[in-house]
Amino acid sequence: MRNIAGLNLLSIGKVTLRNNLIAAPMAGISDQPFRNLCYRFGAGMTVSEMFLANSDVWHTDKSALRMIATDDIGIRAVQIVGSDPDEMAKAAEFNVKHGAQLIDINMGCPAKKVNKKLAGSALMQNPELIKTILQKVVGAVEVPVTLKMRTGWDKNNRNCLEIAQIAQDSGIKAITIHGRTRACLFNGEAEYQSIKAVKEKISIPIIANGDICTPEQAKDVFNYTQADAIMIGRAAQGRPWIFEEIAFYLTHGKLQKEKTVDEVEQVVLLHLNELYQFYGEYKGLRIARKHVNWYTKHYADSDQFRRLFSVLNDTSEQVKALKAFFSKIRNNQKS
Ligand SMILES: Cc1cc2nc3c(=O)[nH]c(=O)nc-3n(C[C@H](O)[C@H](O)[C@H](O)COP(=O)(O)O)c2cc1C
Repeated sequence: MRNIAGLNLLSIGKVTLRNNLIAAPMAGISDQPFRNLCYRFGAGMTVSEMFLANSDVWHTDKSALRMIATDDIGIRAVQIVGSDPDEMAKAAEFNVKHGAQLIDINMGCPAKKVNKKLAGSALMQNPELIKTILQKVVGAVEVPVTLKMRTGWDKNNRNCLEIAQIAQDSGIKAITIHGRTRACLFNGEAEYQSIKAVKEKISIPIIANGDICTPEQAKDVFNYTQADAIMIGRAAQGRPWIFEEIAFYLTHGKLQKEKTVDEVEQVVLLHLNELYQFYGEYKGLRIARKHVNWYTKHYADSDQFRRLFSVLNDTSEQVKALKAFFSKIRNNQKS
């Protein structure tokens, strides 16, 4: 996947992306199999699920599975979350030692569990603490450090420009902005005005994020915000090939042909196989359920299949059920 015509090649510090489309970090979703799939289908970079800075949990199975592996394909970007500057610096060092080529700091997560500890988007209330965290993390590692944040704490406190300035002055190499405030959670529509305002004033790369679901929207967000890159989260669920579709549209000005049922089937089976390998059968087949739900929900009359699939407890039964489902869709298309 070459860089997209008309867009500048994006370099984040010493790391150069092959294009300007980034797969968002999503806890519980952006595991290694999903990230690899997004990369194969055209993402210029993917970012890991958040890794907790608190070292007490580093040796749990959950943290181990969230670690980057040196056989990951593409740029190995790890996101860390926490509020203690020293812990954050150590978490960054730890991940770089294990192969991370870029560290992203999470200041966007609105989850209560994370915000209770004044981490994630709750940090946006405390610019002084942000400054200390950013300086410590940047000082601790040789790789580029990026920041992911929302537009502010709430609609009356949209302080993303102030924080972006702090970030730039602290040596942060790129900033992703999700066009919502902490108080918005995932409600309402993302707004891009604040992202555009930051892009006008800040010279490090700005990555626009929030509600970009189609190639046309991707183009509009690039045009309006003038952002250096865009980040896609939920629209890649059950459609990891969205990156390829956006790249095609931006390059050729027309939509790519829809994937055929055969092609979708191949992607789903590949994804499932990678989940079984990565997590083992017990966990892998459970995680497969939500992905299959996303892959199949657009097909007419798929409710019954999804109900049936959600109770299967064997990987070979899952594969068999999926093949039967796609075969039925193919037959329906022919008749
Ligand atoms: C299930 C889920 C998990 C998420 N986990 C993270 C996370 O770990 N770190 C983070 O910075 N953002 C996280 N996000 C936010 C996304 O990265 C992204 O900013 C948000 O979904 C808006 O982009 P979208 O409209 O393209 O989905 C998560 C979002 C979802 C839906």
